[in-house]
Amino acid sequence: RGVIEKLDYLKELGVDVIWMSPCYKSPNDDNGYDISDYRAIMDEFGTMEDFREMLEGIHSRDMKLLMDLVVNHTSDEHRWFVESRSSKDNPYRDYYIWRDPKDGKEPNNWTSYFSGPAWQYDEKTGQYYLHLFSKKQPDLNWENETVRREVYDMMKFWLGIGCDGFRMDVASLYSKTPGLPDGKGTTGLIGHEYYQNGPRIHEFLREMNREVLSKYDVITVGEAPCTSVEDAIKYTGFDRQELNMVFTFEHMDVDSDNGLKWTDKKPDLVELKRVFSKWQTGLNGVGWNSLYLNNHDQPRMVSRFGDDGKYWKESAKMLAVCLHMMQGTPYVYQGEEIGMKNMVFHNIEECNDIEAINAYKEYTSDGRIAPEDMMRYINRKGRDNARTPMQWNAEKNAGFTTGTPWLKTNPCYTEVNVAAQEEDPDSILNFYRKVIRLRKDYPIVVYGSYELLYPEHDKIYAYERILGQEKLLIVCNFAGEAMDLEIPAEFVEKSAKLLISNYPETKITDTLHLQPYEARVYHIEG
Ligand code: NOJ
Repeated sequence: RGVIEKLDYLKELGVDVIWMSPCYKSPNDDNGYDISDYRAIMDEFGTMEDFREMLEGIHSRDMKLLMDLVVNHTSDEHRWFVESRSSKDNPYRDYYIWRDPKDGKEPNNWTSYFSGPAWQYDEKTGQYYLHLFSKKQPDLNWENETVRREVYDMMKFWLGIGCDGFRMDVASLYSKTPGLPDGKGTTGLIGHEYYQNGPRIHEFLREMNREVLSKYDVITVGEAPCTSVEDAIKYTGFDRQELNMVFTFEHMDVDSDNGLKWTDKKPDLVELKRVFSKWQTGLNGVGWNSLYLNNHDQPRMVSRFGDDGKYWKESAKMLAVCLHMMQGTPYVYQGEEIGMKNMVFHNIEECNDIEAINAYKEYTSDGRIAPEDMMRYINRKGRDNARTPMQWNAEKNAGFTTGTPWLKTNPCYTEVNVAAQEEDPDSILNFYRKVIRLRKDYPIVVYGSYELLYPEHDKIYAYERILGQEKLLIVCNFAGEAMDLEIPAEFVEKSAKLLISNYPETKITDTLHLQPYEARVYHIEG
């Protein structure tokens, strides 16, 4: 009902489509990504009547709703799995991936995204089941046609109610290579080459499109770990009849250490630009990008790519400009629009996220990472940073609840909250409203092609958007110090118009004097 209350806020922000994290019945081993009933609402969130009222409220404001479709796995408490594990000859047995032990151990060497083996032994029938995520998230067997039918029926159920599409959880992982061969790696995520963009994935998605999606006017975005631009063209290509967009992870790796997330390495701007640019040019005219720097699985962008101290306001606005002026569909994660920051977790007991809790155990138990270092990494990269209560005002629990929230409220709420920013014309919130408006006022932001300037500059991200004779110049200073940048002459010659900036307007000159974290967008009609 809290969402219902805030629909006008979302509308005013400029939101067209709401993607809602899973709100189905779930024992919450992984914050709702472990679903025990696909056709019921989680008790903590309300009832089906509340849901319908919310959907009506969304539609009456001319917005749309994307449901999170989590069908790589279910909860182990889902009726299908309860049946499946009850005996080897149960009709639901083959809904999941069961295998005999190999030499008294796991059937292969695959590891789970949430640490440890990807297999769980089940005493009752003496077999193991596969779980790429937690052991309470058994993987569905997509090779089984009945499973696929069940999924399609469930999708039709939500579309029948009036939902407008799906964000599809780990959509690139459904198809596992038959035989489930041992993975080649020896550390980290072992076995991924046998299920990321697996052999039948495009066949499955086309079938889903044919059977379900094509029959409705809907939007889809598939979460696609380990997907290249070439793969993304297959998933989102205009002529492919699969998905509309995918979420790539490549740009989220620019502060990993050789693929390892748990580090406090600073993001590499040159690499960030290289990755974004590759996706921008690679999908131009053939597929469609989704644009994000935050979500429920990522730390807060202002703490990660900006400066959540001295230049908090400037850097949050700069990041908004940098992302929103690209080609694709931008996603704003709750609280991003007010510059919410990372939380400080003092110890692992304060965390709720299964990924961080398991990783802490794994890396500290064998001394690979010292506990204090691991806490520092969790504070920098952990998913709970994004999951603290939304900060509405300066009252108790930031106005999010009068009950007890799952995670503590970020102490920054007294300063960083919606109520305060509504009052301030110069706030991050009001800036987001303007940035979002620009996409709607200037078709070039949607349709223009993209060209990176100064690829090797390690402090400034500058690019152009081009549509016929029309051009945009986007300049973003990622440094906490002033920078000079020479810009292409035509913007000065044609007296380009400044569309937006996070500092007071100054006259356009051949060399721009950019303030710390300054962002500007110039426009020429051509
Ligand atoms: C991706 C989701 O975004 C994440 O939150 C979840 O833990 C895993 N998939 C497993 O469902």
